[in-house]
Amino acid sequence: MRLAHSAVSIPLFAALLSALPFGPSVLEAQTAVPADALYKNSAMPVEKRVADLLGRMTTEEKAAMLSGSGWMESAPIDRLGIPAIKMADGPMGVRSWAGSSAITSAANPPVKVLTTSFPSGVAMAATWDTELVEREGQAIAQEVKALGRDMILGPTVNINRVPLWGRNFEGYGEDPYLAARMGVAYIKGVQGEGVIPSVKHFAANNEEFERHRIDAKIDERTLHEIYLPAFKAAVQDADVWTVMSAYNKLNGVHLAENVPLLHDVLQKEFGFKGFVVSDWGSTYSTAATVNAGMDLEMPGGPPMQAWLANPRMQSSGNGAGWLTAEKVLAEVKAGHISQATLDENVGRILRVIFVSGVFDHPHPGGGEVDTPAQQAVARQGATEGIVLLKNAPSLLPLDAKKIRSIAVIGPNAAVARTGGGGSSLVLPKYAVAPLDGIRERVGSGIEVKYALGVGMEGEDPVQDTPEARAKLLQEATDAAAHADVAVVVVGRYSKLESESFDVKTMDLPAGQDELLEAVEQANPHTVVVLNTGDPVTMSKWIDKTPALVEMWYGGQEGGHALASILFGNANPSGKLPVSFPKKWEDSPAYGHYPGENLTVDYAEGIYVGYRYFDTKKVEPQFPFGFGLSYTTFEYSRLAVVPGKIIGDRPIVVSLQVTNTGTRAGAEVVELYVHDGHSKIDRPVRELKGFRRVELNPGQTKTVLFVLGRSALSYWSPDKKDWVAEPGTFEVQVGASSRDIRLHAPLEFQK
Ligand code: BGC
Repeated sequence: MRLAHSAVSIPLFAALLSALPFGPSVLEAQTAVPADALYKNSAMPVEKRVADLLGRMTTEEKAAMLSGSGWMESAPIDRLGIPAIKMADGPMGVRSWAGSSAITSAANPPVKVLTTSFPSGVAMAATWDTELVEREGQAIAQEVKALGRDMILGPTVNINRVPLWGRNFEGYGEDPYLAARMGVAYIKGVQGEGVIPSVKHFAANNEEFERHRIDAKIDERTLHEIYLPAFKAAVQDADVWTVMSAYNKLNGVHLAENVPLLHDVLQKEFGFKGFVVSDWGSTYSTAATVNAGMDLEMPGGPPMQAWLANPRMQSSGNGAGWLTAEKVLAEVKAGHISQATLDENVGRILRVIFVSGVFDHPHPGGGEVDTPAQQAVARQGATEGIVLLKNAPSLLPLDAKKIRSIAVIGPNAAVARTGGGGSSLVLPKYAVAPLDGIRERVGSGIEVKYALGVGMEGEDPVQDTPEARAKLLQEATDAAAHADVAVVVVGRYSKLESESFDVKTMDLPAGQDELLEAVEQANPHTVVVLNTGDPVTMSKWIDKTPALVEMWYGGQEGGHALASILFGNANPSGKLPVSFPKKWEDSPAYGHYPGENLTVDYAEGIYVGYRYFDTKKVEPQFPFGFGLSYTTFEYSRLAVVPGKIIGDRPIVVSLQVTNTGTRAGAEVVELYVHDGHSKIDRPVRELKGFRRVELNPGQTKTVLFVLGRSALSYWSPDKKDWVAEPGTFEVQVGASSRDIRLHAPLEFQK
């Protein structure tokens, strides 16, 4: 018998095993497993296979499965042919096995693997294109398989609560419905390929500040209405195979041992049947963690031990090494973990190994990554995700026939800033910077002048002296003044916007506001491009900005995508998945972030994002759901058929959308529900549907939505259930949360 990569000593095991009440003896366990054992038969129902395999496992083997065998591998049990689940970091592509992530590689020395860098989560959310996100999940899963791995650590569906969260770029925005639909699409794409996703981080991981120690105080209604729906949808609509628990505490208890969340909500309320994997270094106990239903501790084995020994890792609050076989067995022996619980947790891991196909069809690897098809998905995502925020005198699209020179300026112009920092950052084979994309697009017919304008904050001290700054600014204004058009690409990068710390201010990095003011002064035809994952303050320059584009972190194809939008080869169709406040002080969480004494009170409750701006009548810089196009769309003929939801019977909402302009384009139609008769406090509107419709000039399409009782409901802490109050609601359909074009009444009757 081999205990995979465990640090447990044999004599200790012998002593522990002799005291254990169940499970085959060591001798029985050493018996070879017959080739026709039921669990090996892929034709048998999964639950039977799980039960059969559990019945053949020793307690020792079960205990060994509760922690990883390496940095990115679960523990294999060779005797029974149980494979290690080989993981890869995500979600915006497969994290490269270079640098610190080399530890994800089984090879020694580590192999440098370059994979497709897809747009950041917030950019994909800005596409509102679930079909595309599903294809992205599929493409990423194909890369996972090609590299011989089995699992991708994503999607991230935590809500963008504050504009300063370091991981906002990873998430799908501020709205639970949008985040849910995006997460479900990604998961379906991944699972469809037989690759295991891990929806993360469960739950309320909405800031990086003291992420291992911070205690999020959130009331039950807010949790259910804002922070849990994307996880619920992952379980109930996508049947997700694994959930990753979060680092933080929720209402006093670390998430890896949080019974109300893991047991009561995830298992009982949502009906989750897969396994929970810990975030890397988020465990603080043995029995409490196992009993809460946290099934697999990661990382494990020797890499975890080495990491644990690092004082820095401990001082930052990581916890690890609690679910080693040795510790689990000791708690089983002490009666603190029952054999039934051990079986349940191991059973959940086995179920996923069978359901995903990892047992029957291991991924040997060896395929291609970064294929043209995968690149095409990345490019489409980057293009559809770009949001045109301002185009006052129709400066855009640029007419290549009329322009002779263009100045491309800014610290994000010549460098491809593909993603934010941390575990999600992908190292691609190539990455197209805005300047490359523009040069490639205009060819030799237009002169392209480049100027840095200002060094990126913290990147190069040589650019950071007063003299150097003055010189760079002068070069940029000269370039702008002598060009027909100036395109200034500003924003942050992976060392300013990252996992592990929050963004320190909503303002653009040092010198960038001044650069924009100076360039706008020098050339009235200035296009400002934001290359960020978060909203930024714009008060210093926005009034004078004729055209503004948010390109987010667009992955390796960001530069191509931007050029095609600027020159009208593609018509912008992205819409904001987050409200852009005018200033941080306007943000609903202002005053309730990052918390005091390691506690953050989510005192704004359900009023997150537009729920706050629209209900409390605070004017944002740009509202949720907003985005311009080079064409115009007209909404008409809203019909709610029948005009009444009775009980659980859904109804159909239909309307027509017409492209009334001269270019083909896509419109994201947003459906909100307004509850005007509620006895309790409710946001003025909540998103309950959306569709992205592609239309040629003059073309009309009918858009359909199906609405049921759940779209009208709020979470009642008293009833511990979703409640819809009988009476008249309003269906609102529009182009943003603040641009409602049509509305119609909708009755609800129990
Ligand atoms: C992150 C996870 C990531 C994991 C493994 C953690 O620090 O929070 O999102 O998947 O590391 O790298």
